[in-house]
Amino acid sequence: MSEFPGEFIPEKLLYRGAEAELWLGTWLNMKVVLKKRIKKGYRVRELDDELIKSRTLKEASLLYEAKKAGIKAPYVLHVNPVKGWLIMTFVEGKSLTEVIQEENEELLSKVGRDIYLMHSSKIYHGDLTPSNIIVVNHEPYFIDFGLGEKVSDIEKFAEDLNVLQKSLQSKLGESYYKKWKAIVNGYITQGGETSREIIDRLNEINKRGRYKQRKKGE
Ligand SMILES: Nc1ncnc2c1ncn2[C@@H]1O[C@H](COP(=O)(O)OP(=O)(O)O)[C@@H](O)[C@H]1O
Ligand SMILES: [Mg+2]
Repeated sequence: MSEFPGEFIPEKLLYRGAEAELWLGTWLNMKVVLKKRIKKGYRVRELDDELIKSRTLKEASLLYEAKKAGIKAPYVLHVNPVKGWLIMTFVEGKSLTEVIQEENEELLSKVGRDIYLMHSSKIYHGDLTPSNIIVVNHEPYFIDFGLGEKVSDIEKFAEDLNVLQKSLQSKLGESYYKKWKAIVNGYITQGGETSREIIDRLNEINKRGRYKQRKKGE
């Protein structure tokens, strides 16, 4: 039997990943999601406990910071770092992966704007894939901050963008470019000169990647 926080009534398993189970349910009469980090048998027990604790805490604090930065994200309602439990509000929508083909530039530009808001508050997301962006009424919500950090290094922000760009490229093929451009436009409109520096760094990262590819092919 799965163990749950007191007062949490599970309804159904939404998702089971390598690191966590996501349960939809109710908690104090609210419709919520429980993110329950799971132990990995093959890791040393102490290391396992430490990783679960630090990622749970990291996720809770960055979700809070993200909201302070003006981005939409679930509210954190309850955290138990020892158990690896995080209860947050349920964001009822579809992932950006599912809706990107039918969404227009306005939504994508908001995604870019919000990523800049996050970066200007020194939040590095750490896993900025389209499945970690939920779209509700054409508004993006950001989730899954467990690998994030507070940083000042623009290389990290460029990395976030690189992850999103690569992920869209592999999902959409050539047609990704128009969508990606709308995201970059939103990012630059919000961020001005500073955001351009980050985009320049992103282009450098892409060049480095291409150079490495070429070297491999030699
Ligand atoms: N607050 C939430 N509201 C609605 N769905 C959520 C919420 N949190 C997570 N999910 C769903 O569960 C999936 C996995 O959660 P996520 O935090 O991304 O875990 P993982 O680290 O395993 O990727 C998400 O892609 C999303 O579909
Ligand atoms: Mg995720």
